[in-house]
Amino acid sequence: MTDTNKTATLTLDGKTYELPVLSPTEGPDVIDIRKLYGQANVFTYDPGFTSTASCDSSITYIDGEEGILLHRGYPIGDLAGKSHYLEVCYLLLYGALPSAAELEDFETRVTRHTMVHEQMHRFFTGFRRDAHPMAIMTGVVGAMSAFYHDSTDISDPWQREVASIRMIAKMPTIAAMAYKYTIGQPFVYPRNDLDYASNFLRMCFAVPAEEYQVDPILSRAMDRIFTLHADHEQNASTSTVRLASSSGANPFACIAAGIACLWGPAHGGANQACLEMLREIGTVDKIPEYIARAKDKNDPFRLMGFGHRVYKNFDPRAKVMKESADEVLELLGVENNPTLQVAKELERQALDDDYFVSKKLFPNVDFYSGIILEAMGFPTAMFTPIFALSRTVGWISQWKEMIEDPQMKIGRPRQLYTGASERPYVDVENR
Ligand code: CMC
Repeated sequence: MTDTNKTATLTLDGKTYELPVLSPTEGPDVIDIRKLYGQANVFTYDPGFTSTASCDSSITYIDGEEGILLHRGYPIGDLAGKSHYLEVCYLLLYGALPSAAELEDFETRVTRHTMVHEQMHRFFTGFRRDAHPMAIMTGVVGAMSAFYHDSTDISDPWQREVASIRMIAKMPTIAAMAYKYTIGQPFVYPRNDLDYASNFLRMCFAVPAEEYQVDPILSRAMDRIFTLHADHEQNASTSTVRLASSSGANPFACIAAGIACLWGPAHGGANQACLEMLREIGTVDKIPEYIARAKDKNDPFRLMGFGHRVYKNFDPRAKVMKESADEVLELLGVENNPTLQVAKELERQALDDDYFVSKKLFPNVDFYSGIILEAMGFPTAMFTPIFALSRTVGWISQWKEMIEDPQMKIGRPRQLYTGASERPYVDVENR
């Protein structure tokens, strides 16, 4: 970020204030209002942060008008096509693509942390079997701070590093355990000779009674889903992680807060909601009815997997996801999947409709991901946990960046108060 020579001028009650204008490496300039309250005794009002940058960051850049997503400068299409998830994790965490030796060392460190403390197994059994796996993940990840005391001191760079590696390594194990618990099957321990995605598939789908062979096609598709969800700058869950950690809370508690926020259907929960919607539509002849409902102001129904706060063009992740859905379903021999047919026709009709065109509503990452995950054998309840495990590296990278920033302050938004002015207390007998 650099200071431009530009300033923005604010005139209020006859007084003029000059506000510095900062210039990012990409994207629009930013008016610096940090001193505004002290100088002019006014706040700015921006619920939902539609025009407010809450931090500076060098990790991820999105150009929503052009449909561009860059991680440390590298386009998501290149990363999804040529790289793989653990390399992208390294890139997000440390800022550059690793050398072969650095990658090997990183993969070894992650692999050696995949098991969870044995005592944590008992923690799972406290949940009801019909608990949503996101409920279990929120609880178990928060509970990690009760198990890994040697990596909760955020002022120690070594402990921060260990906590980061632990969470990236253990999140697939925890997500798989949450799944196994809800279906009543025994937990499957991680295997360190498998790559990250294959290990996760095995922990979800293997049973002790027989050998499980990981299908390399599914493992590649799984890895790509992880990569496409790895980070997405200051979205709701990432901002939650930043706000929680700004108080100095330990990293496990902060990531648990991010998981809780991700669960909502406007955010990561949209992948489950989207597949449920596609199933409910069922056949292409019903699509016009659902499009009409989505356009009806008096109907709360929205097309799930459509629209985005930042993208006003194709979500570049959705493009890769759609190609991947075609590929995976063809390879699994289910190219006539009715849900995929409904999804494609729904996309076609929506993008031909003035409502969606004028509001710039396009399919987002959640529109096609559920179709792939369902074809792989995951129940809908596992879609958001898979998003959470993929996004963990993004949350951690943003958390690390924030903690290492000397300008870090506790996050403390102001408000526009609309309640009662001071009034005298009235005794209960006189009310
Ligand atoms: N279906 C129908 N209308 C929509 C939709 C939709 N999916 N999304 C937005 N709109 C309309 C909305 O009614 C509003 O219309 P108007 O201006 O007439 O009031 C306009 O488009 C702008 O919507 P908004 O709610 O003000 O926009 P936002 O930036 O606050 O919300 C969003 C973004 C993602 C929450 C919203 O588009 C949405 O609810 N989409 C469905 C849920 C979804 O797919 N979420 C996943 C997002 S991507 C992955 C992730 O973040 O986890």
